[in-house]
Amino acid sequence: MKRKTVKKTVKKTVLVLLSSIIALAAVVFVGLLLVSGIFTTPKYLEPWQKDYSQSFADPRVKLAAHGLLAASGHNTQPWTIKLDEQNPSVFYLFADSRCLTLEVDPLARQTMVSQGTFLENVQLAGEQLGYPTTIQLFPEGEYDEKDLIASMKAKPVAKITIIQTNPKMSTIKTNPKMSSLYDAMFLPDTNRAAYQSAPLTAKQTDSLLTLNQDVEAAMDVEAKANLNANTNADVNANANLNANTKADVNADANANANANVDSVANADVTLHFYQDEANREKLGRYAMEGADIESVIHRISEESAAVFRSNEREKNSHRNGFSVEGQGTSGIMKHILQGAVTLVPSFNGEQAATKNFVKSTQTAVDHTPGYAMIVTKNNTRTQQVKSGMLYGRLVMELHSIGFVMQPVSQVLEEYSEMKEPYQRIHNEYAPEGGTIQMFFRVGKPIQSFPQSMRRDVLDLIEP
Ligand SMILES: Cc1cc2nc3c(=O)[nH]c(=O)nc-3n(C[C@H](O)[C@H](O)[C@H](O)COP(=O)(O)O)c2cc1C
Repeated sequence: MKRKTVKKTVKKTVLVLLSSIIALAAVVFVGLLLVSGIFTTPKYLEPWQKDYSQSFADPRVKLAAHGLLAASGHNTQPWTIKLDEQNPSVFYLFADSRCLTLEVDPLARQTMVSQGTFLENVQLAGEQLGYPTTIQLFPEGEYDEKDLIASMKAKPVAKITIIQTNPKMSTIKTNPKMSSLYDAMFLPDTNRAAYQSAPLTAKQTDSLLTLNQDVEAAMDVEAKANLNANTNADVNANANLNANTKADVNADANANANANVDSVANADVTLHFYQDEANREKLGRYAMEGADIESVIHRISEESAAVFRSNEREKNSHRNGFSVEGQGTSGIMKHILQGAVTLVPSFNGEQAATKNFVKSTQTAVDHTPGYAMIVTKNNTRTQQVKSGMLYGRLVMELHSIGFVMQPVSQVLEEYSEMKEPYQRIHNEYAPEGGTIQMFFRVGKPIQSFPQSMRRDVLDLIEP
């Protein structure tokens, strides 16, 4: 009788203990979801909806609503739009100097590349929607590098003119290829995960290599004239870096790097694919070297942390920068992680972020069938923007054939700690003294990636 009572009591205690643990786990779980903001409507995703642009009557705003889906360094979305009050077919793109990330991008080069990705989306959307455009780069000349911020505010990166406002598209025929590229614009731009082992086929690289001419041809004659005039205006600071780079070109390394490259030379911007084993290994080492160096620089960690949005409320209020989606996290796991880093910020503190970054770069590098580069002859602002246009176009082309990409920019960054590998990679892969504007992985995804935050188009428009 006594034994039975003890047994009963033990059973009851175990049951109470178990239910308490389950209840506690449930409370923690629900707590994390609530802190993450599971019931908050993700307004930061609205621009990805295909009918988003339709809510704006002005075709210029419609086009800008597509521009902002483009990739940008640190997802800063450094774009400001000015609508021409006199001419309803014209608008201007300015680089938003409030979005500069000068620790990783001290010369604002990536900010300029990000202008090009925006412009390419605008151009493609224009063709698809019946508002074809001409794009004139730096219509008032390139920046005064001695007063860059003031110059960014004063001088547009591009004048965009809609040459035909025909919403019903009565005279415009959109070809099927254009439509598939247009659809690809609504897919997330960047995939940081492991890729399948199959590289691009020779036919695919050949076709992609012709893109450079397409991007050039799409710019109007006036713009090209302007462009030539500006080509001499190299960015001073970059000229220094390049001068150093040229000083110790390693001829053997060049021969190696270039033996298996698929590339097409076109004027001042060139595109290259590297899918052979030797280049893949070498470029993987550069990607890792860049990540290793960058990950331990405190000021850079602080800059990235400042644009990390840890939960739905922060994402809705900023609508730019990084979030857990950037590592491919979605669904319920996203909310658990967001809840955790909101409650205990050290989960994503400097040490943890460093470890994660290096580890995820290693996984990425270990599963990369090929790399690509966009190289410019000099390093003018115009060439930087053109590189972005080409990159933007590649994003859509690659997506439309089932491939994805991820820039691995660290080794291209112009801060002092990166100087040595920067020079080495330039010696090997831009031996004629050019500048590598984009260095990125290309492959077929294993895991799909979620869309990341985008601002409301109306917030881009300056009065
Ligand atoms: C100039 C430039 C440099 C970039 N560098 C990197 C990089 O080094 N690593 C990375 O993972 N993504 C890089 N990105 C991708 C951006 O982080 C990405 O576009 C942005 O976070 C928005 O996300 P989404 O592309 O998935 O829409 C770069 C993009 C641009 C345009």
